[in-house]
Amino acid sequence: MRGDTVVDRASLLRRVQILGALDRVALARLSAYLEARGVEQSDELCREGEPGDCMFIVVSGSFGVYALANGVEKRLTTLTSGDHFGEIALLTDEPRSATVRADTHGEVLELARDRFLQLVGSDAKVGRALATTLAKRLRAVSGHTPLRPSAAGDAHPDVPVTPPPAPAPRRTRSLLIVALGGALAAAVFATDDGPTRFILLLASALALWITAVLPRYVVSLALIAAWTVAGIATPSEALSGFSSPSWVFALSVLGLAVAVSRSGLLLRMGLLLVSRTPPSVRAQAFALMATGIALTPLVPLQLARASLLAPLALSVAETLRLPERGRAAAVIGLAAWIGAGPLSFAFLNGSPVVLLGWALLPDASRARFDWIGWLVAAAPFGALVAGGSLLALLVVLRPGEVERPALDRIGFQLQVLGSPTRAEVAVIAIIAATVALWTIGGDVGLDPAIVAMAGFACAAVATRLDARALASIDWGYLVFYAAVIGLAGIARALGVDVAVGEAIGALLTTLGIGGLAFLVVASLATAALRLALNIEQVVLVLALTLIPTASAVGVEPWTAIVVMLAASGFWAMPAQSPEYELAYSASEGRLYSHGQARLIAIAYLAVVVGAVVLVAPYWDAMGLL
Ligand code: CMP
Repeated sequence: MRGDTVVDRASLLRRVQILGALDRVALARLSAYLEARGVEQSDELCREGEPGDCMFIVVSGSFGVYALANGVEKRLTTLTSGDHFGEIALLTDEPRSATVRADTHGEVLELARDRFLQLVGSDAKVGRALATTLAKRLRAVSGHTPLRPSAAGDAHPDVPVTPPPAPAPRRTRSLLIVALGGALAAAVFATDDGPTRFILLLASALALWITAVLPRYVVSLALIAAWTVAGIATPSEALSGFSSPSWVFALSVLGLAVAVSRSGLLLRMGLLLVSRTPPSVRAQAFALMATGIALTPLVPLQLARASLLAPLALSVAETLRLPERGRAAAVIGLAAWIGAGPLSFAFLNGSPVVLLGWALLPDASRARFDWIGWLVAAAPFGALVAGGSLLALLVVLRPGEVERPALDRIGFQLQVLGSPTRAEVAVIAIIAATVALWTIGGDVGLDPAIVAMAGFACAAVATRLDARALASIDWGYLVFYAAVIGLAGIARALGVDVAVGEAIGALLTTLGIGGLAFLVVASLATAALRLALNIEQVVLVLALTLIPTASAVGVEPWTAIVVMLAASGFWAMPAQSPEYELAYSASEGRLYSHGQARLIAIAYLAVVVGAVVLVAPYWDAMGLL
């Protein structure tokens, strides 16, 4: 594709009526899914009565819309550059209402059904623009022939198709666990012992969190209330999570993430890196993984990174013309996933679960492992896991090499994104300043939470974050996070942590498990639990047991946490990993199969265990083992 054509398409896209409501970042994201297609005179892109699975945007050329009236084909209208067609069949889930034929040669952009429906659902303004054109089209046709009625005779073109039904919950199991949770909560009042009450309440909250019968934040709020009702903590102790620096840090880091992804910086960095990398499978896989890692401290949300990198990987695979779900496509897709998801443990602000692990550490460890302390101790481990995973991908999947294509789609996205805006530049400066202050802040008496808060405030001003954007922060998670911080504090005050540590520590000492062996056992236990629980549940349950145990067997608790975080990325059970599911679906299932991904998940776990062994001397030298 020539450069000027790319520019033409990019400026055309901004003029398309139904896309008018999208900002440039949303438009650039969408353009990853637009397939350019050349058309010859008389080509039929839609045929009345036939099924349709995509819609089109006219780039150039002229297209006639024809409908049959009493068996005679009538020309209804002409569509030219900037017009769209083929949307009705997708909205109504019915056959094409008209035939669309090219009058001249030209070009269209094709958008597949799923993406189109997602687009319509994502923004009310897009839906309204679409409804307006539909109404005009209907009016144009009403003098002629009505838009093809549905089989049932009641087509409503402006009603989107119903979303696929949600999977049925596993009822009996959930009921059993809920009953157990209730029974445990009731048992609280049968005992006067504080620690026992605490453990019973925790067990019942865990049962409710795991079954997800109630939203996570509701259980968290109930747990906080229950501590005070059961007399285990004063209201201010129970609510201390909300006023802790860790909580403010998490809130600010999540807020910064919203500002960064709003600014378009995230997308630009990914596109630039990939477009400047040689078009070979190895180099692109490396670039995608490196992009994921580089974005980690900027956007501490696995979901956000995965949703950005998966389509990018798909664009790369398509541009390299890799066969779908072939070995090479799987390497590209899984490298992007690993970079975006499981490797987040290398940064303290890598993801909400890393923050969760950090918040549960004892005060002394938390003070030692601030942002920079964490990075220094975790970077070699992270590098080993990243390098090992890339090697595992190449060894297990053995991709071949590819011919040299032009990375045109990525150029197109960059054009749509336009030149860097002031907001993007400001966000870069703010993040650089925030990270710099995290690094030196301790020396000048600045708490990382206050630095993060100031950074968030500046970024909010720079990107003009409004209340709607603020609402996109995961407040439910933050409520859960506050409950967990309170929980750790109460456990310490009651001496529960020491008791757990001593009990499990004694058992491990009897078995002769300490130091390195303890970390290996911790990583395997994490992966095993991940088969049944989601990542936050695993981190919560294991942190509460591993941290005191680590102290008891003479290992710095941070090492247990970082190893657990690395192993908790294990994605062999897709249902337990929404991040993996999202990466898979954002790549439209076209890069790798679940089978290939599971194979690599197992290889990843082996890599984590190997990396623990290899990094042990380094941690030993730091006095952590
Ligand atoms: P669809 O029914 O999917 O396929 C044929 C397309 O022709 C239809 O979507 C509309 O996009 C387009 N179309 C149908 N009727 C008209 C009209 N009166 N004016 C413009 N476009 C039309």
